[in-house]
Amino acid sequence: MSEGANVTEQRHLTPVLTKRWLSPNSWTLATYEQLEGYTALRKALAAHPDQLIQLIKDSGLRGRGGAGFPAGMKWGFIPQNDSKPHYLVINADEGEPGTCKDVPLMMADPHSLIEGIVITAYAIRANYAAIYVRGEVIHCIRRLHAAVREAYRAGYLGRNILGSGFDLEVVVHAGAGAYICGEETALLDSLEGRRGQPRLKPPFPATAGLYAAPTVVNNVETIATVPYIVNGGSDWFRSMGTEKSPGPKIYSLSGHVEKPGQYEAPLGITLRELLDMAGGMKDGIPLKFWTPGGSSTPLFTADHLDVPLDFEGAAAEGSMLGTTALMIFNETVSVPWAVMKWTEFYKHESCGKCTPCREGTYWLEQILHRMLRGEGTPEDVETMLDVCDNILGRSFCALGDGATSPITSAIKYFRHEFLELCEKNSGGVPAPALAGAQG
Ligand code: NAI
Ligand code: SF4
Repeated sequence: MSEGANVTEQRHLTPVLTKRWLSPNSWTLATYEQLEGYTALRKALAAHPDQLIQLIKDSGLRGRGGAGFPAGMKWGFIPQNDSKPHYLVINADEGEPGTCKDVPLMMADPHSLIEGIVITAYAIRANYAAIYVRGEVIHCIRRLHAAVREAYRAGYLGRNILGSGFDLEVVVHAGAGAYICGEETALLDSLEGRRGQPRLKPPFPATAGLYAAPTVVNNVETIATVPYIVNGGSDWFRSMGTEKSPGPKIYSLSGHVEKPGQYEAPLGITLRELLDMAGGMKDGIPLKFWTPGGSSTPLFTADHLDVPLDFEGAAAEGSMLGTTALMIFNETVSVPWAVMKWTEFYKHESCGKCTPCREGTYWLEQILHRMLRGEGTPEDVETMLDVCDNILGRSFCALGDGATSPITSAIKYFRHEFLELCEKNSGGVPAPALAGAQG
């Protein structure tokens, strides 16, 4: 049985994470409690912290922020016999282009995140947790503040939670809208009050994180998944998805689809199946290219409709699952134009700490602008590949590597479009393509 068929059969098990989203006032404590909310916390507090870490290890839950690192293993790295405080930090700085899953989750169901935070903090023996949210999503910050206040009042946060003797303080911290602050160590620097720039790893945050103390940094969706595993058990969780990428996942679809939005499905679903759920391509215009997990993941084309969208499936086809942000483009869109827009983003967001990324993204943007004006030469295509080669694997953090993905993959599949732009008197990208791209 192919992975795709397997996933289709599992679809009846989802939704899990999004099941409350359409309930009236889904974000309130009252609704959350009516719909099984905080039942997992009671169970968790009755267990030993080590049992919870083992449960998450057994479930195979992998980080939903993009890298897919096993969550239970990360929790297990926290030293247990040290005198330092432990911290839990939630990475809610969702900034990868096209990614729109954590903000909707926090808007629709903030208590699932808070319940996951208390369980995780208890498991890793942390008495302080912070939710680091993008500063731009002020509506989401307000909603989180309100939910945290409700949880404190109900005794789910604060001193002696539900009479267990466990204490947890949670703060909601607004970032200032820098993409780099989604990188976990830059996020920690920012949280400490410094300019957000990546730190050298190792040491990883699990051993030296916030204030140099052991810290678990996990994505919103990862932690919001935890209560369901506590209630459902690891076998239930593993009944969805694939062997190495178990569980449900929120995929965000944007661009030229009839019904863009968030779609929850077991890991391993294909774009073909997701398009069925999203009403197909907008106006029936055929697919040209798409990103499986945001612009930092190499592009796919119409030939990749049946690639299983799990950590292994996307990688086997030369891309990555990333943030499961599927940006979908139809035949009206100029590939070099889309690549230019993404490159402008990376150049703007490069923190400037290391030379390959700081200088490389600048030059890539210059070359693409020249090409798009119709002033490029065929050698420019090779120069871009050379610049990418000097960034990839030579930059300080994943931002530099990510900046090369759209360019190298676009040239791999659509080299002719770049070369056509460089033909004498090409006139650059014609206006209809630009209009189509924005539509
Ligand atoms: P990574 O693979 O370096 O690390 C993943 C996680 O595992 C980190 O928390 C790290 O501390 C931990 N880890 C890895 N090896 C470890 C070890 N030996 N000991 C202890 N802990 C260890 O990936 P990174 O740089 O954290 O994330 C890159 C990903 O982020 C990309 O794949 C991209 O898809 C995603 N991303 C997500 C964005 C978003 O908006 N959600 C924005 C930009 C990128
Ligand atoms: Fe900063 Fe880019 Fe270097 Fe990362 S790769 S440290 S974002 S300059």
